[in-house]
Amino acid sequence: MELRDFADQVLLNSEISAKLIPIIEPVTDDNPGSAERIQVPARAEALKFCGRREAPPMPHPESFGDPAKRAIAHHIMANHELQALEVMAFVLRAFPDASPEFRRGLAGVMADEQRHTRMHILRAADLGLEFGAYKVNGYFWLKSQEFTSLLDYLAGLPLTFEGGNLDHTLEFEQWFEAAGDGKSAGIMRAIHRDEIEHVAFGWHWLRALKPADRTEWETYEAHLHWPLRPEKARGKTFHHEPRRAAGLSDEFIERLEGLG
Ligand SMILES: [Fe+2]
Ligand SMILES: [Fe+2]
Repeated sequence: MELRDFADQVLLNSEISAKLIPIIEPVTDDNPGSAERIQVPARAEALKFCGRREAPPMPHPESFGDPAKRAIAHHIMANHELQALEVMAFVLRAFPDASPEFRRGLAGVMADEQRHTRMHILRAADLGLEFGAYKVNGYFWLKSQEFTSLLDYLAGLPLTFEGGNLDHTLEFEQWFEAAGDGKSAGIMRAIHRDEIEHVAFGWHWLRALKPADRTEWETYEAHLHWPLRPEKARGKTFHHEPRRAAGLSDEFIERLEGLG
């Protein structure tokens, strides 16, 4: 299957079931097409992006004893995962000239995002909530519209959103565990492990594409667009271990830690 067709399957199909169909092997990239910036991904009516404040906020972790609150948390995170998938498809369409190795690697990450989306949707359903029962926002998608280069993408998504998720996934794992929900905790642990690989992918390509006379940190900061900023790349509790596992340099980790 051509990477471009896979990206279009994710972006132009409004059915969630179609967006989550894995890419068909063998993967080819013979016709990446011209650069095209899809402005809004097709989505079913119930899952179209709503305005700020229309979607429910993340429930407080102290309320996670209530299965209905945990279901809302999974509903919100399913939309985050789906947006990550859509943003990556956007990148495939917007940057056809990127290295084929990068593009294939990105398709591998997308397979994980498809699984993560499905895990949250199924877990919310187990807890009695259908995906689309609540409104969903388009925060990550909107930020991605400002990516004008691959370095912008790397700074914004893998190194900030996914980087921050290294901490957030562990926080949610603990909160679900404390609420006695081992299944939801297990999902967060599985996503955490994948996220380490996704941050490693971002780090590898940041190093490959950065100007020779700039450090990784300088390049990272230079390519973040407000309101994205390095503080968003970490949770309240800072974890060294997953960042070391992702291959981030000591300097980069110290810089992030110093922001707390
Ligand atoms: Fe994910
Ligand atoms: Fe990810």
